[in-house]
Amino acid sequence: MRQTTIKGSGGFATTLAVLGAVLAAGLAHTSAYAGPVQDRIALVGRYEARFPNLKLDDYVNGVYALNPQMRAEWEQIMVFPPYLPGLQEGKKLFHTKFKNGKSYADCFPNGGIGIANTYPRWDAKRGEVMTLALAVNLCRKANSEKTLRYGKGKLAEILAYMADTAKGKKIHVVVPENDPRALEAYEHGKEFYYARRGQLNFSCASCHVQYAGKRIRNNTLSPLLGQATHWPTYRLKWGALGTLQRRFRGCNKQVRAKPFPFQSREYRDLQYFLTYMSNGLPEIGPTVRQ
Ligand code: HEC
Repeated sequence: MRQTTIKGSGGFATTLAVLGAVLAAGLAHTSAYAGPVQDRIALVGRYEARFPNLKLDDYVNGVYALNPQMRAEWEQIMVFPPYLPGLQEGKKLFHTKFKNGKSYADCFPNGGIGIANTYPRWDAKRGEVMTLALAVNLCRKANSEKTLRYGKGKLAEILAYMADTAKGKKIHVVVPENDPRALEAYEHGKEFYYARRGQLNFSCASCHVQYAGKRIRNNTLSPLLGQATHWPTYRLKWGALGTLQRRFRGCNKQVRAKPFPFQSREYRDLQYFLTYMSNGLPEIGPTVRQ
């Protein structure tokens, strides 16, 4: 398993123990193709062992599930969540017709309502991972509209509205078994998550799996589980709504690694893996983070 890249850590033994238990339960024999399913079960088991008092759904709240003081502050903020104006704007933008009379609704299943929890999707025709952000811009292109800048602004507001219409639905990302390219993309994303990089030589997993719940500088570190359930998010630091890939870029920079471009293959595959790990948890976007 990829977890073996975290060598010499105490957590490694736990991972092996969890994996051992999963194998012993016979799950490995249900299908020759059980990679992502097994990965998720092992990850959930790992956190359950680490945080026995946490309910699974509470992982959507990230650090606020782990740090009571931060949670109290956050609950205060959530009384009048600062993302509301952006969300309103997103709703307006989403329902505004293009110059040709069509709209976003024409590009998506169910008119784009209540589907955000099913992204990223595997796009078999293009042979690549399709994020909702990319799909929105492709929709604009197909309707002869200029594409929107990624990461923040109008696009983030539109995505926030789309997420809001799926609020409470379970994250449901599929890695289709009949297309080996989909599994490849998933594995590529997983590799990215566990690969050490930057001058500090940290992987995403170093902070969010191995050290989840621990403090680093002034921050408590959130677990990987639940990290993909609430985007776009209003970060107080940003003073605005921003997308998940904007957060990827920030975390890459934190370890002095060069961030990848928005919607690069790297980040889309990473998002595919990351969101798959949150399968079964409720979509709660948009929300607020520090
Ligand atoms: C040096 C430690 C460190 C590394 C390495 C790191 N992060 Fe983070 N990350 C943080 C901190 C600190 C935060 C803010 C507190 C929190 O929510 O965990 C954060 C937050 C996040 C969040 C938002 C969580 C939420 O609930 O809103 C996501 C998503 C995330 N990181 C993904 C990644 C990914 C993907 C990588 C690898 C490319 C990565 N991180 C690498 C430290 C790190």
